[in-house]
Amino acid sequence: MEHTISVTSQAERKVTDTKSLPFGKIPTEHMFIAEYKNGEWQNAQVVPFHDLTLSPLALCLHYGQTVFEGMKAFVMEDGHINIFRADKHYDRFIKSLHRMCMPPVPQKLFIDAIRSLVQLDADWVPKEADGSLYIRPFMIATEDRIGVKISDEYLFMVVCSPAFQYYAKPLKVKVETNFVRAAEGGTGNAKCGGNYGGAFYPTQLAREAGYDQVLWTDAIHNEFIEESGTMNAMFFIDNVLVTPQLTGTILDGVTRDSLLSIAKAKGITIEERQISYAELITAFEDGKRVEAFGAGTAAVVAPIEIIAIGHKEYKCYIEPDAMMYQLQKELFNIRRGLTEDVNKWNYVI
Ligand SMILES: Cc1ncc(COP(=O)(O)O)c(C=O)c1O
Repeated sequence: MEHTISVTSQAERKVTDTKSLPFGKIPTEHMFIAEYKNGEWQNAQVVPFHDLTLSPLALCLHYGQTVFEGMKAFVMEDGHINIFRADKHYDRFIKSLHRMCMPPVPQKLFIDAIRSLVQLDADWVPKEADGSLYIRPFMIATEDRIGVKISDEYLFMVVCSPAFQYYAKPLKVKVETNFVRAAEGGTGNAKCGGNYGGAFYPTQLAREAGYDQVLWTDAIHNEFIEESGTMNAMFFIDNVLVTPQLTGTILDGVTRDSLLSIAKAKGITIEERQISYAELITAFEDGKRVEAFGAGTAAVVAPIEIIAIGHKEYKCYIEPDAMMYQLQKELFNIRRGLTEDVNKWNYVI
């Protein structure tokens, strides 16, 4: 079924200086919203950004039936706007929705919603090299009923916010061996709200101990590295790019996938496999050069300077000639239209 998106524009708020504000604090002027009722999507609209009215019984407020995506738009060299890998984000959104028993959004509606919104709020896409527009598509269960059940009603929305550098400096992370983020068969590879709420407490403890993030380990052995915060974990040791394989407990990151493709094209050896913290300790103790970094839409490539394992801190290689910066630069160049987009990742509007 074709969905017509009605657009109500209202120039109330001007683009403000968002660079100095924390990530995600200021929404752009408009938002997209569509309702799911009686088994179909309806009332698809781009409207001025506004608060929602929800019944206190709305199921999302009680049982966590919420799913979201995080993607970015960039101003390209020629002035066009590029919504990066919109199709891969759509595919992951659909998988997350499926896992949470939520209805799929047709691909055309998803893409048209984002395109209409970004076009209307194009002035909000930062032009600076370190700037981008963060796009947040999300869905919540809205049926008003307090009983534990799969909702029959939903809202699909998209909001945007200008984004700049996510982390100001290289990270100090702590390998987490007491708490777990996800176990096999759970929701680790779905981008659902509960995964993040459950991660707050261990992350808060790590922050109190002086670290920026935790590096999660697997739920069975507490030995194998999983991912970190909102980033996939990647390591470059002995000229090999190593990253945990997709087992269902970590997110299938779009940045991870992009960096792996870029590395492969450069002839770098890639290993998607289990990597234990013991293997990291051996590499550090053998005096090897260990690069470690987080890969994610918000932070892009976040260099890790310190990894704490137990009571010991290990120092990673973060000098300017590190390989991670080369991958980051190549990703930057593709998204900005400075190099050929051989993989057809750019959705240019
Ligand atoms: C838990 C988690 N892992 C990894 C990532 C990185 O995924 P992507 O590169 O698609 O942003 C994210 C961010 O979306 C995340 O929330």
